Amino acid sequence: MIRFEKQGHIGILTVSRPEALNALNSEALDGLLSTVQKIADDISVRALIVTGEGKAFVAGADIAEMKDLDADAGRGFGLRGQAALSAVEALPMPVIAAVNGYALGGGCELALCADIRIASEKARFGQPEVGLGITPGFGGTQRLPRVIGVSKAMDLILTGRTVKADEALAMGLVDRVVPPDELMPEALKLAGLIAANAPFAVRASKRAIRRFTDAGQTEGLLYEAEMFGECFATNGQKMAMEAFVNKAPKDEFIDE
Ligand code: CAA
Repeated sequence: MIRFEKQGHIGILTVSRPEALNALNSEALDGLLSTVQKIADDISVRALIVTGEGKAFVAGADIAEMKDLDADAGRGFGLRGQAALSAVEALPMPVIAAVNGYALGGGCELALCADIRIASEKARFGQPEVGLGITPGFGGTQRLPRVIGVSKAMDLILTGRTVKADEALAMGLVDRVVPPDELMPEALKLAGLIAANAPFAVRASKRAIRRFTDAGQTEGLLYEAEMFGECFATNGQKMAMEAFVNKAPKDEFIDE
């Protein structure tokens, strides 16, 4: 489910579960965490590209797996996802997200853990969680406002709307947009520029910039996990995820 290859000093990590649009279930999250832990120890990887197999980058956390969770299990699932994604963010070498398609929910949150984001013109971004009766749970409430600012994060998270690559670029959610067949060449070119620089200085620069963006984030992630868990004790979460899994229309949300 998680593939890793090296091209010289550049690593390429691919989320590969195309039959479910690379949705992150527990197995994929565990694979991601263990792969990332190995990459962290490999000093010869000077830059890492993260991408998805097929037409999606990652279409989110696995809704079928989350559907029947209760509040405790929901909180646990959120913490498990946070751990895997935080490990990506904490990698010592720069990480480039090459966003080839849908980056929704946990997929957008994975892209946010990269240091630089390049999108294909086909990429689509969004945090659709509130339509599923939950909050973003893999770090989106903390990382999205840090990347695009509070009000734009409110817009995306509270509406749950999906944006195309050009709007994502205008919002600052991605750094550049390229035609689909230029995505990997562009990501490799950027990774190559980074990998040609002094490795210690590159890692030290990343660490220093992260000091700035990480301020207050650890506490914020714990609070996010609490909120995410509480959603799993609501009717909205049960109804909306049941509807997605059964390909049925959602009922109207009740006041709760
Ligand atoms: N979880 C589980 N399965 C998923 C999935 C997800 N997030 N996203 C897609 N899939 C599955 C579909 O169920 C479908 O499976 P089957 O072929 O077995 O029916 C397969 O992937 C292909 O998907 P679609 O047929 O739906 O493809 P499409 O091109 O018609 O639509 C899509 C694409 C708009 C991305 C649609 O799949 C979709 O809306 N997916 C869900 C997106 C979403 O809500 N993500 C957020 C999840 S919650 C989250 O991530 C919480 C968090 O913060 C941790």
